Amino acid sequence: MRLEITNMDHMGNGIGKKDNKIVFVPKTITGDICEVDIFKNNKRYDIGRVKKILEKSNLRNDVKCKYYDICGGCNISNLNYENQLLFKVNKVKNVFKKYLDSEIEPRVIGSKKQYNYRNKITYHYDQKFGLVSIDNKVIDIDDCLLVSEKVNQLYHAIKNEDLKNVKLIAVRECDNGLILNILGKMDVNKLCDKCISIYMNGKCVFFKEDGYIYIENIKYIVSPESFFQVNTSNISNLYDEIVRYGEFTKNDSVIDLYSGVGSISLYIAKYVKSVLGIEIILDAVKDAQVNAKINNIDNAKFICGDVAKLVDENTLGDILIVDPPRTGLDKHTIEVINDKKINKVIYVSCDVMTLVRDIKLLNNYNLKNISVIDMFPQTHHVETVCLLETK
Ligand SMILES: C[S@@+](CC[C@H](N)C(=O)[O-])C[C@H]1O[C@@H](n2cnc3c(N)ncnc32)[C@H](O)[C@@H]1O
Repeated sequence: MRLEITNMDHMGNGIGKKDNKIVFVPKTITGDICEVDIFKNNKRYDIGRVKKILEKSNLRNDVKCKYYDICGGCNISNLNYENQLLFKVNKVKNVFKKYLDSEIEPRVIGSKKQYNYRNKITYHYDQKFGLVSIDNKVIDIDDCLLVSEKVNQLYHAIKNEDLKNVKLIAVRECDNGLILNILGKMDVNKLCDKCISIYMNGKCVFFKEDGYIYIENIKYIVSPESFFQVNTSNISNLYDEIVRYGEFTKNDSVIDLYSGVGSISLYIAKYVKSVLGIEIILDAVKDAQVNAKINNIDNAKFICGDVAKLVDENTLGDILIVDPPRTGLDKHTIEVINDKKINKVIYVSCDVMTLVRDIKLLNNYNLKNISVIDMFPQTHHVETVCLLETK
């Protein structure tokens, strides 16, 4: 059937209407007119598959990746970059309107790099070695456009090895080289000259040096299991937004919940009296402590533990920064933040749905400002920084 795509959902799928019923069509964008097959019928909506694009939307981009149709990764690379940003802002605006009845006008900051930006990629092995497709199958690729040439070359070198006992391999690109983190068993001898360290099932099996990444003039050592923002090129833009909203002074004691390797704490340390980070992964906490030391920062401290268990009235300072995983904040943490009525809460989020859920629950605070920082070009994922102030 012929269908005009008039909108897009928050996952980046096109939306059209046939006989008053909504049809979701993956890989189409607003303005496309397509020939569509319906392959799933639901009571309130259908899901279609594009057979042919009859008229291309003028928002459309020529997709660069030859695996676009099978790999779910760069799902909005069919939009030109300007419209990718517009899609992300509209997604955030729509979610805030729908769930909070709040009209917002976010500030938008694009990514410095739009390709080759990922410092981490995870390959899987299941008869083939590569990325996981939309249908949850491993696909063999030549290159991934989101990582650097160096990472693609290592991927080819790994493919030449016997991988039958491997489940997955994560590669992290640091400023000084590549780190391999393998789940499973394989001979790594031929890979050592291409890496700075190799880990297998949590154990270090080859070590030349620790991996580090500089953000502005701060050096971050990042262990294989520690979280680090994946788009190195745009991290300073994200953290500068936190600094802008914080308007920090040398009198401020700041708490940084979900602090990872101390990335935010150490970035803001020079503006504040003190900062305390809380993080659950021990290796990340150790990295944070080393990172404070090697950068000569003595007003940042880190403790290891579950925020849900550690957070109480005494662990909340003058300004609070939270950067939780996708699941957002737990109930107890929300209660404590509400009770404490902190002047400023800066909420960094990679999931707009849990963000609005939490903002609704943080009912002693008003949303003052919000920014969308594009950390994930070519994908529908959105990173936001919100400023909340006590009522
Ligand atoms: C989105 S990352 C943010 C890390 C850091 N702020 C950054 O910018 O690199 C979330 C972090 O929360 C940590 N985490 C997850 N659940 C946690 C919990 N219940 N308590 C403390 N930390 C947790 C993860 O290990 C991860 O380092």
